[in-house]
Amino acid sequence: MDGAERGAEGRHVPVMLDRVVALLAPGLQHPGAVLVDATLGLGGHAEAFLQRFPDIRLIGLDRDPEALRLTGDRLAPYAERVTLVHAVYDELPQVLFDLGIPAIDGILFDLGVSSMQLDEAGRGFAYSQDAPLDMRMDSTAPTTAADILNTYSSAELARILFQYGEEKFSRRIADRIVKARETEPFTNSARLSELVRDAIPQAARRTGGHPAKRTFQALRIEVNGELEVLRRALPAAVASLALHGRIVVMSYQSLEDRIAKQVLAAGAKSDVPDDLPVIPAGHEPYLKLLTRGAEKPTEEEVAENPRAASARVRAAERVREKGLVA
Ligand SMILES: C[S@@+](CC[C@H](N)C(=O)[O-])C[C@H]1O[C@@H](n2cnc3c(N)ncnc32)[C@H](O)[C@@H]1O
Repeated sequence: MDGAERGAEGRHVPVMLDRVVALLAPGLQHPGAVLVDATLGLGGHAEAFLQRFPDIRLIGLDRDPEALRLTGDRLAPYAERVTLVHAVYDELPQVLFDLGIPAIDGILFDLGVSSMQLDEAGRGFAYSQDAPLDMRMDSTAPTTAADILNTYSSAELARILFQYGEEKFSRRIADRIVKARETEPFTNSARLSELVRDAIPQAARRTGGHPAKRTFQALRIEVNGELEVLRRALPAAVASLALHGRIVVMSYQSLEDRIAKQVLAAGAKSDVPDDLPVIPAGHEPYLKLLTRGAEKPTEEEVAENPRAASARVRAAERVREKGLVA
């Protein structure tokens, strides 16, 4: 059986599962509690929640129609408690409105790409396999990685590589991309991998993993507008939480983790000046942080599932009523 034929359950080990369950559990104890899985993927986390909390309703979102199709089959035994929606997660308020759900009791963001997306060479996420330069999480979206490489100016490419890939040699790589595409437009990942490797000085190639890793990350973030979407989605998710509802955000790179940190920290702090002796009613923090900094997976988990290595988890609980957020 090849990767495309296997069912959803065979391919993904949900990251930090027990910790994620423990963080969200207190909000899910009452019958009819609503949990949103904002990044359904292959449904590993979703299935575990449905098994462990027989009275919850689960709303699963994913921008990848293929993930929804496979996971729909996996979650079929729980169909009457599950609603799956093809949506980008910043559309959550509209999704909840359409479903007539005024507030939710928990929400999980397990960011980035799924193992299925990485493993399916044809989608072009992996720098280690030659494939068309696509990288769209939603294959119905208009812009591919190849479009970006073949049309953006050198300055725009350099900015993306620097901001989203934290690539020190962003200008050198961008200049070489623009030069190379004059001969022939980019179509496949192997040519880009090779170009990046050649653009990076020999001495710098020995550290930081595969030389093309940062460039591929940057392109993926740009193709899918990942950071802007996350910046809109997290405050909207917090605003959707019922009192004592909880949010868990699991990131795999520092740019996403920084956004999660900022949004949760903003809610955990009063919005009045620090020197005010009392906090006026309605200005108390509306979130309580549940993690100290970002939590990491244990060494044992990383040994079993190397894809968990970069995971960072942050979580918070809503401690002030909905509607009072400024
Ligand atoms: C790391 S996987 C989730 C894995 C899942 N927790 C599991 O246990 O199988 C991330 C998923 O989120 C989806 N995704 C990423 N960004 C998204 C966005 N902005 N809106 C909706 N889905 C998104 C991806 O398509 C992918 O399927």
